[in-house]
Amino acid sequence: MGQFPITRTTAPKRKPADDTLTFGKVTTDHMFLMNYEEGKGWHNPRIEPYGPLSLDPATSVLHYGQAIFDGLKAFRGDDGQIRLFRADRHAQRFNRSAKLMSMPELPVDVIRDSFDALVGLDADWVPHKAGTSLYLRPTIIATDVMLGVHPAHSLLYFLILSPVGSYYKEGVKPVRILATDKHVRAVKGGTGEAKTAANYAQSLAGQRDAEAAGYTQVLYLDGVHRQYLDEVGTMNIMVKIGDEVITPPLAGTILDGVTRASTLQLMRDWGLKVSERPITIDEVMAAGRDSSLKEMWGTGTAAVVSPVGTLGYKGEDVQINGGQTGELTQKLYDAIVGIQYGRTNDAHGWTSVVKVPVTA
Ligand code: COI
Repeated sequence: MGQFPITRTTAPKRKPADDTLTFGKVTTDHMFLMNYEEGKGWHNPRIEPYGPLSLDPATSVLHYGQAIFDGLKAFRGDDGQIRLFRADRHAQRFNRSAKLMSMPELPVDVIRDSFDALVGLDADWVPHKAGTSLYLRPTIIATDVMLGVHPAHSLLYFLILSPVGSYYKEGVKPVRILATDKHVRAVKGGTGEAKTAANYAQSLAGQRDAEAAGYTQVLYLDGVHRQYLDEVGTMNIMVKIGDEVITPPLAGTILDGVTRASTLQLMRDWGLKVSERPITIDEVMAAGRDSSLKEMWGTGTAAVVSPVGTLGYKGEDVQINGGQTGELTQKLYDAIVGIQYGRTNDAHGWTSVVKVPVTA
Protein backbone atom coordinates (compact mmCIF):
# COMPACT_ATOMS: atom_id res chain seq x y z
CA MET A 1 0.00 0.00 0.00
CA GLY A 2 2.99 2.26 0.55
CA GLN A 3 2.54 5.60 2.24
CA PHE A 4 -0.79 6.96 3.37
CA PRO A 5 -1.75 10.10 5.31
CA ILE A 6 -1.89 10.06 9.08
CA THR A 7 -3.82 12.74 10.91
CA ARG A 8 -2.95 12.56 14.58
CA THR A 9 -5.40 13.32 17.33
CA THR A 10 -4.97 16.62 19.10
CA ALA A 11 -6.99 15.34 22.08
CA PRO A 12 -5.55 12.00 23.24
CA LYS A 13 -7.92 10.06 25.47
CA ARG A 14 -7.16 8.96 29.02
CA LYS A 15 -6.07 5.34 29.08
CA PRO A 16 -7.85 3.05 31.53
CA ALA A 17 -5.86 1.15 34.17
CA ASP A 18 -5.07 -2.39 32.99
CA ASP A 19 -6.92 -4.01 35.88
CA THR A 20 -10.18 -2.26 34.96
CA LEU A 21 -10.27 -3.67 31.42
CA THR A 22 -13.18 -5.85 30.37
CA PHE A 23 -14.06 -6.47 26.71
CA GLY A 24 -14.57 -3.86 24.06
CA LYS A 25 -15.73 -0.88 26.12
CA VAL A 26 -12.79 1.43 25.38
CA THR A 27 -11.33 2.45 22.03
CA THR A 28 -7.96 4.01 21.22
CA ASP A 29 -7.03 7.39 19.74
CA HIS A 30 -6.98 6.56 16.01
CA MET A 31 -8.74 4.55 13.34
CA PHE A 32 -7.80 3.39 9.85
CA LEU A 33 -10.21 4.04 6.98
CA MET A 34 -10.35 3.16 3.29
CA ASN A 35 -13.10 3.47 0.68
CA TYR A 36 -14.27 1.32 -2.21
CA GLU A 37 -16.14 2.44 -5.30
CA GLU A 38 -17.01 0.17 -8.18
CA GLY A 39 -14.70 1.00 -11.11
CA LYS A 40 -12.18 2.65 -8.80
CA GLY A 41 -11.43 -0.15 -6.38
CA TRP A 42 -10.10 0.30 -2.86
CA HIS A 43 -8.64 3.76 -2.43
CA ASN A 44 -7.94 6.60 -0.03
CA PRO A 45 -6.31 4.68 2.83
CA ARG A 46 -5.75 6.93 5.81
CA ILE A 47 -5.44 7.10 9.56
CA GLU A 48 -7.58 9.66 11.36
CA PRO A 49 -8.42 10.50 14.95
CA TYR A 50 -10.98 8.00 16.28
CA GLY A 51 -14.47 9.40 15.97
CA PRO A 52 -18.04 8.89 14.79
CA LEU A 53 -18.81 7.98 11.19
CA SER A 54 -21.30 10.16 9.41
CA LEU A 55 -23.84 8.03 7.50
CA ASP A 56 -26.95 8.98 5.57
CA PRO A 57 -29.98 7.25 7.19
CA ALA A 58 -30.60 5.48 3.84
CA THR A 59 -27.12 3.87 3.88
CA SER A 60 -27.68 0.24 2.90
CA VAL A 61 -25.77 -1.38 5.79
CA LEU A 62 -28.21 0.18 8.23
CA HIS A 63 -31.10 -1.61 6.53
CA TYR A 64 -29.81 -4.84 5.07
CA GLY A 65 -26.76 -5.55 7.23
CA GLN A 66 -24.19 -6.07 4.48
CA ALA A 67 -21.32 -5.94 6.95
CA ILE A 68 -18.38 -8.12 7.87
CA PHE A 69 -15.78 -7.98 10.59
CA ASP A 70 -12.96 -9.95 12.11
CA GLY A 71 -11.20 -9.88 15.45
CA LEU A 72 -7.58 -10.44 16.35
CA LYS A 73 -5.26 -9.38 19.11
CA ALA A 74 -1.91 -7.69 19.75
CA PHE A 75 0.00 -8.70 22.88
CA ARG A 76 2.72 -6.92 24.81
CA GLY A 77 5.31 -9.57 25.56
CA ASP A 78 7.51 -9.81 28.63
CA ASP A 79 10.33 -8.65 26.33
CA GLY A 80 8.39 -5.44 25.55
CA GLN A 81 7.72 -6.44 21.91
CA ILE A 82 4.20 -6.17 20.55
CA ARG A 83 3.05 -9.25 18.66
CA LEU A 84 0.02 -9.92 16.47
CA PHE A 85 -1.31 -13.48 16.61
CA ARG A 86 -1.93 -15.10 13.21
CA ALA A 87 -2.61 -11.82 11.43
CA ASP A 88 -2.37 -13.40 7.95
CA ARG A 89 -4.91 -16.06 8.78
CA HIS A 90 -7.29 -13.41 10.11
CA ALA A 91 -6.79 -11.33 6.96
CA GLN A 92 -7.57 -14.37 4.80
CA ARG A 93 -10.67 -15.17 6.82
CA PHE A 94 -11.78 -11.55 6.53
CA ASN A 95 -11.60 -11.90 2.76
CA ARG A 96 -13.54 -15.15 2.86
CA SER A 97 -16.26 -13.36 4.80
CA ALA A 98 -16.17 -10.59 2.17
CA LYS A 99 -16.69 -13.10 -0.61
CA LEU A 100 -19.56 -14.82 1.20
CA MET A 101 -21.24 -11.45 1.74
CA SER A 102 -20.80 -10.31 -1.90
CA MET A 103 -18.13 -7.74 -1.14
CA PRO A 104 -14.88 -7.11 -2.99
CA GLU A 105 -11.82 -8.60 -1.28
CA LEU A 106 -8.94 -6.49 -0.04
CA PRO A 107 -5.34 -7.39 -0.87
CA VAL A 108 -4.00 -9.28 2.18
CA ASP A 109 -0.93 -7.03 2.35
CA VAL A 110 -3.18 -3.96 2.55
CA ILE A 111 -5.11 -5.49 5.44
CA ARG A 112 -1.80 -6.40 7.13
CA ASP A 113 -0.43 -2.89 6.58
CA SER A 114 -3.49 -1.40 8.23
CA PHE A 115 -3.04 -3.71 11.25
CA ASP A 116 0.64 -2.89 11.62
CA ALA A 117 0.32 0.84 11.01
CA LEU A 118 -2.56 1.42 13.44
CA VAL A 119 -1.19 -0.80 16.21
CA GLY A 120 2.22 0.84 15.73
CA LEU A 121 0.72 4.31 16.04
CA ASP A 122 -1.44 3.43 19.08
CA ALA A 123 1.21 1.15 20.61
CA ASP A 124 0.94 2.86 23.99
CA TRP A 125 -2.58 1.47 24.21
CA VAL A 126 -1.40 -2.15 24.27
CA PRO A 127 -1.92 -3.02 27.94
CA HIS A 128 0.80 -4.59 30.10
CA LYS A 129 -1.01 -6.82 32.57
CA ALA A 130 -1.11 -10.61 32.06
CA GLY A 131 -4.35 -11.62 30.36
CA THR A 132 -4.84 -8.25 28.65
CA SER A 133 -4.29 -7.35 25.01
CA LEU A 134 -5.25 -4.91 22.28
CA TYR A 135 -8.19 -6.21 20.24
CA LEU A 136 -8.26 -5.24 16.54
CA ARG A 137 -11.64 -4.99 14.86
CA PRO A 138 -11.41 -4.70 11.06
CA THR A 139 -14.82 -4.11 9.51
CA ILE A 140 -16.38 -3.48 6.09
CA ILE A 141 -19.80 -1.90 5.69
CA ALA A 142 -21.92 -1.25 2.61
CA THR A 143 -22.25 2.49 2.07
CA ASP A 144 -24.57 2.76 -0.95
CA VAL A 145 -27.26 5.30 -0.16
CA MET A 146 -30.35 3.57 -1.47
CA LEU A 147 -33.16 1.39 -0.21
CA GLY A 148 -33.10 -1.19 -3.01
CA VAL A 149 -31.71 -4.59 -1.98
CA HIS A 150 -28.50 -5.15 -3.92
CA PRO A 151 -24.82 -5.92 -3.23
CA ALA A 152 -23.27 -2.51 -2.59
CA HIS A 153 -21.23 -0.62 -5.16
CA SER A 154 -19.51 1.44 -2.47
CA LEU A 155 -18.08 0.28 0.83
CA LEU A 156 -16.06 1.50 3.77
CA TYR A 157 -13.26 -0.46 5.43
CA PHE A 158 -12.38 0.65 8.91
CA LEU A 159 -10.14 -0.69 11.64
CA ILE A 160 -10.55 0.23 15.28
CA LEU A 161 -8.65 -0.93 18.37
CA SER A 162 -9.77 -1.70 21.91
CA PRO A 163 -7.65 -2.59 24.94
CA VAL A 164 -9.30 -5.64 26.52
CA GLY A 165 -9.23 -8.01 29.46
CA SER A 166 -11.30 -11.19 29.73
CA TYR A 167 -14.32 -11.61 27.49
CA TYR A 168 -16.40 -13.31 30.18
CA LYS A 169 -17.03 -11.81 33.60
CA GLU A 170 -15.94 -15.21 34.96
CA GLY A 171 -12.44 -14.46 33.60
CA VAL A 172 -10.80 -17.80 32.74
CA LYS A 173 -13.02 -19.67 35.20
CA PRO A 174 -15.47 -22.28 33.87
CA VAL A 175 -18.64 -20.92 32.28
CA ARG A 176 -22.18 -22.33 32.17
CA ILE A 177 -23.39 -23.11 28.66
CA LEU A 178 -26.96 -23.85 27.58
CA ALA A 179 -27.52 -26.04 24.51
CA THR A 180 -30.70 -25.02 22.73
CA ASP A 181 -32.91 -26.75 20.20
CA LYS A 182 -35.18 -23.72 20.09
CA HIS A 183 -32.92 -21.13 18.46
CA VAL A 184 -30.86 -21.90 15.36
CA ARG A 185 -27.70 -19.99 14.48
CA ALA A 186 -27.06 -21.12 10.91
CA VAL A 187 -27.88 -23.64 8.21
CA LYS A 188 -25.78 -24.95 5.34
CA GLY A 189 -25.95 -22.58 2.40
CA GLY A 190 -26.40 -19.63 4.74
CA THR A 191 -23.90 -17.26 6.26
CA GLY A 192 -22.80 -19.28 9.31
CA GLU A 193 -19.15 -19.46 8.32
CA ALA A 194 -18.90 -15.72 7.60
CA LYS A 195 -18.07 -13.26 10.30
CA THR A 196 -21.01 -11.09 9.46
CA ALA A 197 -23.17 -8.84 11.61
CA ALA A 198 -26.36 -10.80 10.91
CA ASN A 199 -25.06 -13.97 12.60
CA TYR A 200 -24.58 -12.04 15.80
CA ALA A 201 -27.85 -10.09 15.57
CA GLN A 202 -29.88 -13.27 15.25
CA SER A 203 -28.01 -14.92 18.16
CA LEU A 204 -29.24 -12.29 20.61
CA ALA A 205 -32.60 -13.91 21.39
CA GLY A 206 -30.90 -17.20 22.35
CA GLN A 207 -28.34 -15.28 24.39
CA ARG A 208 -31.10 -13.40 26.21
CA ASP A 209 -32.92 -16.66 27.05
CA ALA A 210 -29.72 -18.33 28.24
CA GLU A 211 -28.80 -15.42 30.48
CA ALA A 212 -32.33 -15.35 31.92
CA ALA A 213 -31.90 -19.04 32.79
CA GLY A 214 -28.55 -18.41 34.53
CA TYR A 215 -26.14 -19.44 31.76
CA THR A 216 -23.35 -17.44 30.15
CA GLN A 217 -23.70 -18.49 26.51
CA VAL A 218 -25.71 -20.61 24.10
CA LEU A 219 -24.48 -23.75 22.37
CA TYR A 220 -26.26 -23.90 19.04
CA LEU A 221 -27.24 -27.18 17.41
CA ASP A 222 -27.58 -27.80 13.68
CA GLY A 223 -30.62 -26.27 12.03
CA VAL A 224 -31.94 -29.47 10.42
CA HIS A 225 -31.86 -32.23 13.05
CA ARG A 226 -31.41 -29.88 16.04
CA GLN A 227 -29.02 -32.52 17.37
CA TYR A 228 -25.48 -31.91 16.15
CA LEU A 229 -23.24 -29.46 18.00
CA ASP A 230 -22.55 -26.36 15.92
CA GLU A 231 -20.85 -23.51 17.79
CA VAL A 232 -21.36 -21.10 20.64
CA GLY A 233 -21.49 -17.92 18.55
CA THR A 234 -18.54 -16.28 20.25
CA MET A 235 -16.57 -19.55 20.39
CA ASN A 236 -16.05 -22.87 18.65
CA ILE A 237 -16.70 -25.83 20.92
CA MET A 238 -14.58 -28.87 21.82
CA VAL A 239 -15.29 -31.88 24.04
CA LYS A 240 -12.98 -34.57 25.39
CA ILE A 241 -14.82 -37.86 25.72
CA GLY A 242 -12.60 -40.64 27.03
CA ASP A 243 -9.29 -39.94 25.32
CA GLU A 244 -10.77 -38.45 22.12
CA VAL A 245 -11.07 -34.71 21.54
CA ILE A 246 -14.02 -33.99 19.27
CA THR A 247 -15.02 -30.74 17.59
CA PRO A 248 -17.68 -30.12 14.91
CA PRO A 249 -16.25 -30.10 11.36
CA LEU A 250 -16.07 -27.01 9.15
CA ALA A 251 -19.07 -27.80 7.01
CA GLY A 252 -20.38 -24.35 6.17
CA THR A 253 -22.31 -23.44 9.31
CA ILE A 254 -19.56 -22.61 11.78
CA LEU A 255 -16.76 -20.11 11.85
CA ASP A 256 -13.29 -21.32 10.89
CA GLY A 257 -11.91 -20.13 14.22
CA VAL A 258 -8.26 -19.17 14.36
CA THR A 259 -7.97 -20.35 17.97
CA ARG A 260 -9.84 -23.51 16.93
CA ALA A 261 -7.25 -24.21 14.22
CA SER A 262 -4.36 -23.35 16.53
CA THR A 263 -5.49 -25.59 19.39
CA LEU A 264 -6.20 -28.47 16.97
CA GLN A 265 -2.66 -28.08 15.61
CA LEU A 266 -1.14 -28.07 19.11
CA MET A 267 -3.07 -31.17 20.17
CA ARG A 268 -1.98 -32.97 17.01
CA ASP A 269 1.61 -31.88 17.72
CA TRP A 270 1.21 -33.44 21.18
CA GLY A 271 0.03 -36.71 19.64
CA LEU A 272 -3.52 -36.55 21.00
CA LYS A 273 -6.47 -38.20 19.29
CA VAL A 274 -8.37 -35.33 17.67
CA SER A 275 -11.48 -35.70 15.52
CA GLU A 276 -13.29 -33.06 13.52
CA ARG A 277 -16.59 -34.88 13.21
CA PRO A 278 -20.29 -34.37 13.81
CA ILE A 279 -21.33 -35.13 17.38
CA THR A 280 -24.84 -35.01 18.84
CA ILE A 281 -25.97 -33.29 22.01
CA ASP A 282 -27.47 -36.64 23.12
CA GLU A 283 -24.00 -38.22 22.89
CA VAL A 284 -22.44 -35.38 24.88
CA MET A 285 -25.15 -35.38 27.57
CA ALA A 286 -24.90 -39.19 27.92
CA ALA A 287 -21.11 -38.82 28.29
CA GLY A 288 -21.76 -36.14 30.91
CA ARG A 289 -24.01 -38.48 32.87
CA ASP A 290 -21.57 -41.41 32.87
CA SER A 291 -18.57 -39.09 33.41
CA SER A 292 -16.79 -40.07 30.21
CA LEU A 293 -17.15 -36.38 29.25
CA LYS A 294 -13.81 -35.44 30.74
CA GLU A 295 -13.53 -31.82 29.56
CA MET A 296 -15.32 -29.26 27.46
CA TRP A 297 -14.08 -25.88 26.34
CA GLY A 298 -14.68 -23.12 23.86
CA THR A 299 -12.06 -21.45 21.67
CA GLY A 300 -12.14 -17.96 20.23
CA THR A 301 -10.02 -14.87 19.82
CA ALA A 302 -11.95 -13.00 22.47
CA ALA A 303 -12.54 -15.97 24.77
CA VAL A 304 -9.10 -17.63 24.13
CA VAL A 305 -9.61 -21.14 25.61
CA SER A 306 -12.59 -21.01 27.93
CA PRO A 307 -13.52 -24.01 30.13
CA VAL A 308 -17.15 -25.11 30.28
CA GLY A 309 -18.04 -26.20 33.83
CA THR A 310 -21.74 -26.88 33.29
CA LEU A 311 -23.70 -27.89 30.22
CA GLY A 312 -27.45 -27.49 30.32
CA TYR A 313 -29.94 -29.04 27.89
CA LYS A 314 -33.70 -29.56 28.16
CA GLY A 315 -33.81 -28.77 31.85
CA GLU A 316 -30.88 -31.02 32.81
CA ASP A 317 -27.42 -29.84 33.83
CA VAL A 318 -24.28 -31.96 33.65
CA GLN A 319 -21.17 -30.87 35.51
CA ILE A 320 -17.91 -31.38 33.72
CA ASN A 321 -14.75 -32.26 35.63
CA GLY A 322 -16.51 -31.28 38.86
CA GLY A 323 -17.11 -27.82 37.42
CA GLN A 324 -13.35 -27.19 37.39
CA THR A 325 -10.98 -26.34 34.55
CA GLY A 326 -9.67 -29.58 33.02
CA GLU A 327 -5.99 -30.42 32.64
CA LEU A 328 -5.98 -30.32 28.84
CA THR A 329 -8.04 -27.11 28.75
CA GLN A 330 -5.49 -25.45 31.02
CA LYS A 331 -2.58 -26.83 28.99
CA LEU A 332 -4.06 -25.44 25.78
CA TYR A 333 -4.73 -22.06 27.37
CA ASP A 334 -1.17 -21.87 28.71
CA ALA A 335 0.31 -22.94 25.37
CA ILE A 336 -1.67 -20.41 23.31
CA VAL A 337 -1.06 -17.57 25.75
CA GLY A 338 2.63 -18.50 26.05
CA ILE A 339 3.04 -18.11 22.28
CA GLN A 340 0.97 -14.92 22.17
CA TYR A 341 3.09 -13.17 24.81
CA GLY A 342 6.32 -14.46 23.30
CA ARG A 343 7.14 -16.59 26.36
CA THR A 344 7.38 -19.92 24.58
CA ASN A 345 8.76 -21.10 21.29
CA ASP A 346 6.50 -20.12 18.38
CA ALA A 347 7.21 -23.30 16.42
CA HIS A 348 4.61 -22.59 13.72
CA GLY A 349 5.53 -18.92 13.22
CA TRP A 350 2.12 -17.69 14.31
CA THR A 351 3.18 -14.35 15.73
CA SER A 352 4.57 -11.27 14.01
CA VAL A 353 6.26 -8.38 15.76
CA VAL A 354 4.77 -4.91 15.15
CA LYS A 355 7.25 -2.15 14.39
CA VAL A 356 6.57 0.83 16.60
CA PRO A 357 7.56 4.12 14.93
CA VAL A 358 9.87 6.23 17.10
CA THR A 359 7.38 9.09 16.95
CA ALA A 360 4.44 6.99 18.20
C1 COI B 1 -13.96 -13.09 18.54
O1 COI B 1 -13.43 -13.92 19.27
O2 COI B 1 -13.33 -12.26 17.87
C2 COI B 1 -15.40 -13.14 18.43
O3 COI B 1 -15.92 -13.49 17.43
C3 COI B 1 -16.19 -12.72 19.56
C4 COI B 1 -16.70 -11.35 19.31
C5 COI B 1 -17.93 -11.38 18.47
C6 COI B 1 -16.90 -10.66 20.60
